[in-house]
Amino acid sequence: VLEEKDAVEAARCPHAASRAHSLDAIPGPTNWPLVGSLIELLRKGGLTRQHEALVDYHKKFGKIFRMKLGSFESVHIGAPCLLEALYRKEGNYPQRLEIKPWKAYRDLRDEAYGLLILEGKDWQRVRSAFQQKLMKPTEVVKLDGKINEVLLDFVGRIGNINVNGKIEDLYFELNKWSFETICLVLYDKRFGLLQEKVNEEAMNFITAVKTMMSTFGMMMVTPVELHKSLNTKTWQDHTAAWDRIFSTAKVYIDKKLKGTAVRAPDDLIGDILDHSCLSKKELYAAITELQIGGVETTANSMLWFIFNLSRNPDAQRRLLQEIREVVPTDQDPCGEHIKSMPYLKACLKESMRLSPSVPFTSRTLDKDTVLGDYAIPKGTVLMINSHALGSNEEYFDDGKQFKPERWLREKSTINPFAHVPFGIGKRMCIGRRLAELQLQLAMCWLVRDYEIVATDNEPLDVIHSGLLVPNRELPVAFIKR
Ligand code: HEM
Repeated sequence: VLEEKDAVEAARCPHAASRAHSLDAIPGPTNWPLVGSLIELLRKGGLTRQHEALVDYHKKFGKIFRMKLGSFESVHIGAPCLLEALYRKEGNYPQRLEIKPWKAYRDLRDEAYGLLILEGKDWQRVRSAFQQKLMKPTEVVKLDGKINEVLLDFVGRIGNINVNGKIEDLYFELNKWSFETICLVLYDKRFGLLQEKVNEEAMNFITAVKTMMSTFGMMMVTPVELHKSLNTKTWQDHTAAWDRIFSTAKVYIDKKLKGTAVRAPDDLIGDILDHSCLSKKELYAAITELQIGGVETTANSMLWFIFNLSRNPDAQRRLLQEIREVVPTDQDPCGEHIKSMPYLKACLKESMRLSPSVPFTSRTLDKDTVLGDYAIPKGTVLMINSHALGSNEEYFDDGKQFKPERWLREKSTINPFAHVPFGIGKRMCIGRRLAELQLQLAMCWLVRDYEIVATDNEPLDVIHSGLLVPNRELPVAFIKR
């Protein structure tokens, strides 16, 4: 039976009934012994198409469904009112699904955990050390100089390497741009990834991050202990990649720790190093994970932002007009300018709705929780599906279209819990403000200098490979204005 508090919330949720049913009553796809819905999912296009299958399941089963893949069971929620209920009942230490391969490496080498894998009070302690600086817009805006330093090189490189406006492997170029930016922010170090000849250290560092990311997926679906005891190639590559990442990051964190001079106003990380009571080991892990969390997510969001503007020339024209009105021609776009650019912000929001980078995040319930019609037990893994929410016509009219105006209506009917590309609650993305500023500034620089044109108008297939990525080279060209 619902508690009084729950009943109030349930009453506000149109999908809630007055009595909570058990987990078993949640509908879902076929659940065969041992394999669960794995075969059905494979028939629907496999794991790389899982984002589409999950949208279909939400259409078929409604706002909430339950699914088992092998022995892994999860409950998927795709309605703003359920997310809001979850948010309101959130405890002090929300938990995501464990990334066991990362933990296994840290345990092996006696390294600490960072924000992506920490839990409980330790997570909260580390999070609060970074929260103030990284989540406060007035602090993050101080990073615009560093962001612009890299953008100057990036836009120059787009000019140098394009062939008739086309850039070969734009995604890799964007990854180098975001890598270079986050390293400058975290370590005060330019790695030179946007130069014509990339030095060996920089190349090894970026390759190690790539290898680490491409090897952990396999160990999420098969037992990491087995990989470790058999010393599989996946485990060896994963471990070697982390070794390189940690050894490089430590050199630059140590340099910053030793810096005795007065910190510059844009040295947010230096400030955190000076004032937090975290151990050196904790700082190594936390900063390294900030870097890991910030590279491909930002590059991927920029890729989709470029794509959406290429297919919507009217929006691009209006954006150019806003840029020209706000940023004087003899100045670089900066954080102060962005404050007066509502259309730019709406374009980014709309791009992240239509083409989110991270399709879903997760929560492992730390207590029994009533969500809508169901009483869900402690320990259940919930999947929060921002991709399904953003593509649901019930929450976004004309949802397949790129319409930045929807975010600018005076009386907005958009439920804030329908747009969660950075997650929700206390554990939402800590790099959100930095990523937004980086993406907004990058688009200002690009659109001011280049017309971004679509080189074809064929549909672009999207595949799930951890993030949502296009299945072919982006059909865009950059034409100098
Ligand atoms: C967590 C998305 C950029 C660092 C997350 C989560 C999402 C996300 C969905 C999970 C949140 C949740 O479970 O509620 C994105 C996207 C980005 C981006 C789409 C770019 C557009 C960044 C950047 C950094 C970063 C630039 C580093 C400065 C992290 C960290 C976490 C996280 C450390 C874990 C936070 C915690 O558990 O306390 N991000 N992120 N992200 N992100 Fe980001």
